[in-house]
Amino acid sequence: MSAPADNGVGTGVRAPKRARIAERTLRTDRWWLQPLLTVLGLSAFIIYATVRSFVRTAYWVPDYHYLTPFYSPCLSTSCVEGSSHFGHWFGDLPGFIPLGFVVLPFLLGFRLTCYYYRKAYYRAVWFSPPACAVAEPHAKYTGETRLPLIIQNVHRYFFYVALIVSLVNTYDAITAFHGKTGGFGFGLGNIILLGNVILLWAYTLSCHSCRHVTGGRLKHFSKHPVRYWIWTQVTKLNTRHMALAWTTLGTLVLTDFYVMLVASGAISDLRFVN
Ligand code: FES
Repeated sequence: MSAPADNGVGTGVRAPKRARIAERTLRTDRWWLQPLLTVLGLSAFIIYATVRSFVRTAYWVPDYHYLTPFYSPCLSTSCVEGSSHFGHWFGDLPGFIPLGFVVLPFLLGFRLTCYYYRKAYYRAVWFSPPACAVAEPHAKYTGETRLPLIIQNVHRYFFYVALIVSLVNTYDAITAFHGKTGGFGFGLGNIILLGNVILLWAYTLSCHSCRHVTGGRLKHFSKHPVRYWIWTQVTKLNTRHMALAWTTLGTLVLTDFYVMLVASGAISDLRFVN
């Protein structure tokens, strides 16, 4: 693959003082594999989540109080009875508005502006650059200094909303310990819901903004031992941020899929208690 025409005013590998190399890359390994897998993984999740958010069926299991995270919190009178844990803030919604519309833009915004996902889709979708030592097709590079990419700076605010969403999901997971005839109950669905919410917390707390919130702007860690301890714990989690980003996409789909199967009657929940 040859490099784009060099008009002498480019940046990066096409900057006037860079060596003239005709090939776009000299790499001979399968450098394209990781961007390709990233595109496939993200596309699969977006398609699944979009379809499930609009179908409005099989998102609540009344017997065991399982609610899929894609519909939580469900705040409209269009939500099926029992699924609105935080009341009805809105009347009936037309079919083109997802029942989880309050939270979906924030969840999407949190993920889209995430430092890891930015790296992933800048490489895999925008080819900026597609891989290490592979020239990008764009003639200029302006980074995140102007619209629309400067909007990425709002990530820290999405982080605060994500904390609230994690609390809501935690509440859902706790209320799901519900037996068919009332009282306490426990089934495979509880394990899946609980596992999902624990991993969502791990992903949220491993956020780079969380690291800054806990330990940023401190000149002397020794004078802030509590914040320093919290920062070191968040930093340990932060090293797993990429893995958590992908794992939580998987657990979100798994949780929703399991709730859908049980709610639709395709399978029965494996019950351990009641
Ligand atoms: Fe990924 Fe904040 S950096 S969620």
